[in-house]
Amino acid sequence: MSGESTPDDADPRTADVLVVGSGIAGCAAALSAAREGEEVLLVTKASEPDDASSDWAQGGIATTRGDPESLKNDIMEANANTADPEAVDVLVENAAPAVRDVLLETLDVDFDTLGADYDFAQEAAHSEERILHVDASTGQHILRPFLAHLSEVDNVEILEDTTALELIRHEGRVHGALLDTEPDGEPVFAGTTVLATGGIGDCFAQSTNPAGSTGDGIAMAFLAGAAVDDMEYVQFHPTAAAVEDPFLLSEAVRGEGAVLRNADGRRFMPDYHDDAELAPRDVVARAVQDEIDTTGSVTLDVSPLDDPFDEAFPNLASTCEDRGVDWQDGIPVAPCEHFLCGGIAVDGHGRATLDRLYAVGECARTGVHGANRLASTSLLEGLVWGLRAGEDAAGFDAAPIEVQRLRNSDPALPDRFAAEKFHRLRSITTEELGLRRTTDGIVTASGVLRRLKGEVDAYTRTRTSRSLYELRNATVVAILIANAAADNDESVGCHYLAESDAEQPATVGTEPE
Ligand code: SIN
Repeated sequence: MSGESTPDDADPRTADVLVVGSGIAGCAAALSAAREGEEVLLVTKASEPDDASSDWAQGGIATTRGDPESLKNDIMEANANTADPEAVDVLVENAAPAVRDVLLETLDVDFDTLGADYDFAQEAAHSEERILHVDASTGQHILRPFLAHLSEVDNVEILEDTTALELIRHEGRVHGALLDTEPDGEPVFAGTTVLATGGIGDCFAQSTNPAGSTGDGIAMAFLAGAAVDDMEYVQFHPTAAAVEDPFLLSEAVRGEGAVLRNADGRRFMPDYHDDAELAPRDVVARAVQDEIDTTGSVTLDVSPLDDPFDEAFPNLASTCEDRGVDWQDGIPVAPCEHFLCGGIAVDGHGRATLDRLYAVGECARTGVHGANRLASTSLLEGLVWGLRAGEDAAGFDAAPIEVQRLRNSDPALPDRFAAEKFHRLRSITTEELGLRRTTDGIVTASGVLRRLKGEVDAYTRTRTSRSLYELRNATVVAILIANAAADNDESVGCHYLAESDAEQPATVGTEPE
């Protein structure tokens, strides 16, 4: 049954700053709020570091070398000038100080070096080598020390395996969240709440994100009344290994000279863009899909690399071997959902449109990515906005209020319920809201998703299981994508509108190089 929690209920849980999510953005927010002297509660669905996308990041973290304008220009070019230039200024001006402060001086991340300097890597659409990395497993070399560091900070408490189900909102202000630590939702009251819940990979059939990437923060914020923006810009990575459970093959591999070949053995990217394999990500992803559609398959040929693949990228070579992929023959690849450029609308300090609510990392729409994100800027965005939001969020006391608890009167649903609905959700998003969209397809998706939401809502009225809320969140996110896609008739970046269902992929020659 539903119930009421009041301030008089036995000692409700409180925090000065509640952070939801434990990727780089959530960790950075927790760190900077703690540095301000705040009592921070960080709640995370994760039980292990690799439950967060940040841990999976391969290529690395872009930073500035000298003039920040050069990174700004590359970001703007990659997204066809659709980003917010002021947000990009925030990113590039804070990049080097944030990297130095947190990654080098606080966490002592052991980035790869070349002689006396860092081994800055090249990636697609970057005009210079500027990516700090550790092999191609950079994320785990940042996130694991970050979590270890926070676990030693006295004023940070970390609650693992814990999901925030709903935000607590009263008169336009957010007061914390209901957690799944109690069947009807345990309230945690906070002076400020920072959402850092990551991506939306579970909304698509295949993604490079860890399981559980259901857009929870975006759905909770939207349902509480916060603005979301740019939801149509869902980025597909061009080179995920085309195996049953795809895994990412970093842009860095193409940055080091690997080329893409179609089923005829022909290197095709020079026909699509002057920068060939190093063209912006949306261009390469669509070209790869075109070539798969017309010739049957695409492979990433790692033979042009200066060093053998297993020396240049030992962890990727060993992943290939573990997964039965013989990289010496060229690695079969296909585009795969990777990153949401939009999300909860925030300003340069991560402030959402509801009072005392912040969002950082992939769940936030800072304006930095516009319609297409430049490679290796997501860890940087999470770090910069996390630090700024955590600092800005300090100074507010938790104010417990009366809260409507969740209903939990009906028996739990069998696991297969959510699995079946997720299947329906992912089929329609993948079919109609993926790399190529049509007006008709978007309308179809919208109808299917609305019916699905009706069914899911009928269950969430009386049940509160985590999988049901994840399904609810993923459905809300998918509808937001469909709505944003329907409202945007400009085909740009990741929102690519095919002229008609009969549109033909670009024609290219057939001679192998
Ligand atoms: C990659 O290593 O290719 C992924 C980097 C990114 O998504 O920015």
